[in-house]
Amino acid sequence: MAYKTIQTKTEGRVGVITFDRPSALNALCDELTTELAAALEAFEADEDIGCVVLTGSAKAFAAGADIKELQDRDFVSLYMHDPFAKSWESVARFRKPIIAAVAGYALGGGCEIAMMCDFIIAAETAKFGQPEINLGVMPGAGGTQRLPRAVGKSKAMDMCLTGRMMNAEEAERAGLVSRIVAADDLLDTAMEAAEAIAAKSLPIAMMTKEAVNMAYEMGLTEGIRFERRVFQSQFATEDQKEGMAAFASKRAAHFRHR
Ligand code: CAA
Repeated sequence: MAYKTIQTKTEGRVGVITFDRPSALNALCDELTTELAAALEAFEADEDIGCVVLTGSAKAFAAGADIKELQDRDFVSLYMHDPFAKSWESVARFRKPIIAAVAGYALGGGCEIAMMCDFIIAAETAKFGQPEINLGVMPGAGGTQRLPRAVGKSKAMDMCLTGRMMNAEEAERAGLVSRIVAADDLLDTAMEAAEAIAAKSLPIAMMTKEAVNMAYEMGLTEGIRFERRVFQSQFATEDQKEGMAAFASKRAAHFRHR
């Protein structure tokens, strides 16, 4: 399918989505987030895709929600036609593993979309921030909830209240990103990680993602019980039989992905 504000491609079992709205630093207008949701739906339905990489340009992953599109909206229109609940949450709802590969600005909604991904690999040029306060609003696509879970209350308050940016080094120190790489290596590194994930059993990878995400929703006792039950259920899959048989006979596992 041809998109106007994103590009998509497939490499092996990895789907790549690239924000492509350079004139507005990939600001997340309605058209872009609708196309993003459609691309994710297509990759989710495609049995040959085991992991997705979401990325932007060298200058910007995404500079946030499209301010020019938002500025004249009123409460009722936002409430009735809530773009964040509709198309943006498609990233958080995506059930397969998804990696954000971030170079340049990841601000406001850009930072929020990156945080909806399973983990963030940052180029050394990456800059993260929740500058909405400078616009007379606060983060509206999960920033006040996901940022404190990622970096703790003090730094999240600092970011949301001052609107300052944090560089890649600070973001890694704070636990927002999993690793930093040279800008030129960003996509290769993200693809390598995605290919490694996509080579695993897809249902097991999806269950692993679901269980880690449960850590944000449940208390420890409930979470451990959830984990144990899912772990036990994995012994009903062919991939568990294959993975353990391969280890025992000292050969590589060949997962059927279902
Ligand atoms: N929305 C709409 N257009 C944007 C935009 C945004 N979020 N960010 C950048 N642009 C546009 C600029 O208006 C400019 O367009 P024109 O050439 O037509 O004037 C173009 O992109 C290039 O931007 P700049 O000239 O500003 O580039 P710069 O290098 O000087 O500055 C920047 C880069 C610091 C990222 C600056 O563009 C900026 O501060 N952007 C806004 C960041 C922001 O406030 N994000 C939060 C948005 S609200 C939100 O996201 C709500 C939410 O929680 C979901």
